[in-house]
Parts: sequence; C-alpha cells; structure tokens
Amino acid sequence: MNTTPLDNSAQDIVIFGGAGDLAFRKLLPALYMAHLHDKLAHGTRIVGVGRQPWSREEYLRFVDSHSPALIDKEAFNPNDWQSFLARLSYVSLDVTQRDDYAKLKAVCNSKGLRVFYLATAPNLFTQICAHLASAGLVDAQARVVLEKPLGTDLASARAINQEVARYFNEHQIYRIDHYLGKETVQNLMVLRFGNAIFEPMWRAPYIKSVQITVSETVGVGSRAGFYDGAGAMRDMVQNHLLQLLCIVAMEPPISLNADDVRDEKLKVLRSLRKMDLADIKRDTVRGQYTAGASEGVAVSGYQEESNVPPHSTTETFVALRAHINNARWANVPFFLRTGKRMQKRQSEIIIEFADQPFSIFGTTANQEPNRLIISLQPEESIQLGLMVKEPGSGMTLHPVKLGLDLQHSSNKRRAEAYERLLMDVIKGRLTHFMRRDELEAAWMWVEPILDGWKALDDKPRPYSAGSWGPAASSALMARENLCWFEEA
Ligand code: BG6
Repeated sequence: MNTTPLDNSAQDIVIFGGAGDLAFRKLLPALYMAHLHDKLAHGTRIVGVGRQPWSREEYLRFVDSHSPALIDKEAFNPNDWQSFLARLSYVSLDVTQRDDYAKLKAVCNSKGLRVFYLATAPNLFTQICAHLASAGLVDAQARVVLEKPLGTDLASARAINQEVARYFNEHQIYRIDHYLGKETVQNLMVLRFGNAIFEPMWRAPYIKSVQITVSETVGVGSRAGFYDGAGAMRDMVQNHLLQLLCIVAMEPPISLNADDVRDEKLKVLRSLRKMDLADIKRDTVRGQYTAGASEGVAVSGYQEESNVPPHSTTETFVALRAHINNARWANVPFFLRTGKRMQKRQSEIIIEFADQPFSIFGTTANQEPNRLIISLQPEESIQLGLMVKEPGSGMTLHPVKLGLDLQHSSNKRRAEAYERLLMDVIKGRLTHFMRRDELEAAWMWVEPILDGWKALDDKPRPYSAGSWGPAASSALMARENLCWFEEA
C-alpha cells in the first residue's frame, strides 16, 4: 500500500454499537478496505462505542479476533491491518446516560468532521442524538448515520425523524439502505439513463411486467430476537425492494444531485396504489419456511429456530403485486418477492417486454417475450433474451441470451456497499441515502398492508426451506399468464 498521507484533516468515525454484529462484520472490514486503498485521510480515527467495560487493548483484541475472517483473503495483509488498528480507539459508555458522553467528548476532535454511525437498536437513536447534542458534539461538522430499521411503522419512523431533526439538519442525516451502495444497483441508473435505446421503451405499453426478486438461502440465524418482531415486509420490502422499484420506475432526474434524485424516487413511492383489504387478499402472499434442505444441507424450520416464540406467525417470505399510478406505468404490474431459506441466493430484476402485436411466424412458433434480466447479486450481469433462427431449413425460432458479465467488464476494484456508503458520508454525498419524506412515503404504502394482514388474520403459508416459496406465489403470477423467471 502507498503510505503517503492524503492530508492531515482530522476525521472521527464514531460507531455506536462498536462491538455489535454490523460493526465487526461490515463496518470495520469496509473501513479497512478504505484504509488499504488510501481512501481515509491521514487524520481519520475510528472510535468504537459500546457498553462493554473494555480498555482500548481489549477492544482491539475483540476486533482482531472477529473482523479479519470477514475480509477478502486477498486483500488482508497483516501490516496494513496493524496500521488500520492503530486508527481505532474505544469508549465504554451507557448510551442512555447523559453524563457518560463526556468520555466521548474527551476523545473526539473538536474541529474536523465527526461522523456518528448509529448501529444500535432504533429505539436508542433519539436518546443518543440528544445526549450528543448536550455534550456539545453536534455542530456543522457533525453527521449522523442511521441504520435500518428506522422504526417499525409510520408513527415510529416519524417520531425518530422528528427527534433526530431537533439536533441535526436534514443534510447532516444519512439514512442508510445498503442496497443503494451496491455497485450493480447504482449501475441501474446508468443502464436506464446512460443508454438512449432503453428510454423510449421503458414504459407501458412496451413493458408487460416487472419482477424484483431478492431471495436468500440463509435462515433467520441468531437474529430471531429482532426478526420475529419485524418479518420480511419490514426487514426487506419496506426498504431494499422499494428502493429497487424506485430506481427501475422513476423518471429521469434533472441532475444527479441528491435532492433531484430523491425527488423522483419520492414521486414513485407516492404513486404506489394503496391496497385495500380486497387487494391485500388477492395481491399479497405471506410465507414462513418449514424444515427442508438448504444448498444440500438439512435445515430446520423457522418455528424451530432459536428464540422464535412458539406459534410465531411472522412472515419470512413475501410476494406481492404492486401498481404505480402514473402515465408511464399504467397497468404494468410490478411483482416483488423476497424470502429467507429459498432455493438460491439471488437478487434480480426482470423487465418483461410486451408481446409483438403480430407475429409473422404464426402462433405455434414458441416465441418468448424479450426479457431484460438484470442480476444484482451474486452474479452481476445484464442479459437480454432475444429470439434467433435455429440453424437449418425452415424458420424455427430459438431463444438466446445476449449477455454482459459486469464483474469482468472492468479491471477496477468493485468496493462493497458499506465501503462506498461510508466514503459518501465522509464526502458529504447524500444521493444514495434516503431522505426523510422518502422513508415516510415507503411506510405509508407498507403500513396498510401490515394492518390488512392483521385485520384479515392472515397466517403465513408454509414453504419448505430450499424451495421458491409457497405455491400461492406462483399462482399470483399465473393469474395473469405470467410466471416467475425461474419458472419460465
Ligand atoms: C438486511 C436484512 O438489511 O439485508 C437481512 O436485515 C438481510 O435480513 C440482508 O439478510 C440482505 O443483504 P444482502 O446484502 O446480503 O443481500
């Protein structure tokens, strides 16, 4: 690594929840990568904040024993790791105790940038902000990063936003949705707005349907304490899937400035057709995994996972059909689907184009619709399904895919989402963070569905671990003569 200091600017990145899962699994490895690639200014310090009564050495030992395993082996280098650890310090404090913040003040720089990353339970956010302010740590140089989940419903999200706004201006607040930091998600904007060929067709009636799937093979793991109170709708749909939908559906922003982009995403969220009870019954499917096999290994069902309360009715799967009430998307269904313990880990967006108005090849030609398949993870690719002629006499049609492997289309390093977003916070770039009104608009659409499920006493449908979810999810598509991409 090049050890020439970038500059001497003092920057403190303070991580509340410094010994938590997110910190040692994602944030510290991401900051190490930034350090390795000389993206942290010379004066950058990282301060872990936690309840544990540790000394700095004990914290370093904790980080040293947990984080290296989560760093890409090829990027891990003991010397760079040691110089990274030299940036770390630790403050033991009870975040609910105002007087404890004096300890933090004593280690924070008084002049340079101060980033407070709140990787704690959201019910602590407002208290932490208030105590930071009364300790004199919030001024024009301070920024706060709020991890999801931001509330459990509209009222709690509003309450958090309102309280945090008492201490920080909106431009100092970075509401993180790590999907917005993914290279492939950011590339969606370039695909749409950097290629003239798509725009004229990116609308009704040329698009028949849009599918957005984020499936995971992992189960709830050790997170049942949080997850059982949330479920897939709050954990994934309210944020990640709706953000993907926004990028697919938004109008071209007038610039890439944060507010211009966020204005357009907000319009999409506000145009989502609200669901009434009949819509909820017809257009949503909840599921919960039962025992099965995940990637060839027998796994237990959700009810048997540790810390899941008996008879839990929390959904680990959601499929739904959404509509956007605007001219571009009139009558184009958007199918969203997410679940744990599904057959494959994949995040993909399928744009299915409309059938040809007339086919000269006749009705028996097995003509498939053109589909644009955007794979976000683990594969990072774009494929366009086309029909070609099968070699030989006659005019037999044959489907093929025109493909682009994004991972290998450039030699440049592809940073992980958290690294990119942390760098954005330091640079003051808000484009890939959610604005207050966006977050609230997402809740306004999601909350009636959650309430509707309660009112209907909707029980999640069982699906075997390792499957693609309950049969009702396929039926949701079949009703319109459509199917999920893997069933095509
Ligand atoms: C998190 C959810 O926001 O995203 C987790 O809380 C989920 O439940 C995770 O597993 C998925 O993120 P990724 O980047 O692995 O797709």
